[in-house]
Parts: sequence; structure tokens; C-alpha cells
Amino acid sequence: MTYVVTDNCIACKYTDCVEVCPVDCFYEGENALVIHPDECIDCGVCEPECPADAIRPDTEPDMDEWVEFNRKYAEIWPNIVTRKDPLPEAAERDGEAGKRDKYFSEAPGEGG
Ligand code: SF4
Ligand code: F3S
Repeated sequence: MTYVVTDNCIACKYTDCVEVCPVDCFYEGENALVIHPDECIDCGVCEPECPADAIRPDTEPDMDEWVEFNRKYAEIWPNIVTRKDPLPEAAERDGEAGKRDKYFSEAPGEGG
């Protein structure tokens, strides 16, 4: 199994998650992070760190699409291990439905 980043990360990107990952398997896009499913060791420590409750185990229903989403972008975005400020609109957009369709950017983040 793996943990994956899901919809509510998009347009928030709090980045609290990256500091606790023992294998540094988070990757940064312009307005979201993803986890590399083949690098995640399923420890679960990142899940409670996310203020947006965006990190889920792939054992929950309907996660296949998110596993493929995480894998796709983890292979093209830069690694991120250092926490940074959330996006300016994070508080406003936290909890909105359908953020992937409304806001998602395929552009890479800066990493770091
Ligand atoms: Fe990293 Fe553990 Fe979270 Fe996987 S579950 S992304 S290994 S902190
Ligand atoms: Fe995203 Fe939550 Fe990490 S909002 S950047 S998964 S702390």
C-alpha cells in the first residue's frame, strides 16, 4: 500500500507533511504536492500532519485514480523536503470540492 495526496491539497499546499517523511518522497507542483507511491513506506506519520486532511491511505475507496495521479507527477516534479509558506489562498480554499478541476496546475514547483 501507499499513502497519497488528494484533492484538498490543491491550492492550499501547506507543506507540513514534508518535514516528517522518513524517506523524503514528496514532490512539488506549482500548487500541490504528491507522494511517490513506489517510494512511500506506508509509515503513516504524514497523515495527521496535514492541516487540510489531504493525505489518505490507498486502502480507502476510490483511491486508484489518486495513486496514478501521485505517481504521474512524482516522476516529473522536483523533490521537496523543506516546509515553506502555504499558498496565499490556502485558508480560503481549504475544504472546497472539486479543486483538481478548478485549480490544478501541472507546472512543477521549485522543490527544495
Ligand atoms: Fe512519507 Fe510515511 Fe507519508 Fe509515506 S506515509 S509519504 S513514507 S511520511
Ligand atoms: Fe498538501 Fe497537506 Fe502536505 S495541504 S502540502 S498534503 S500538509
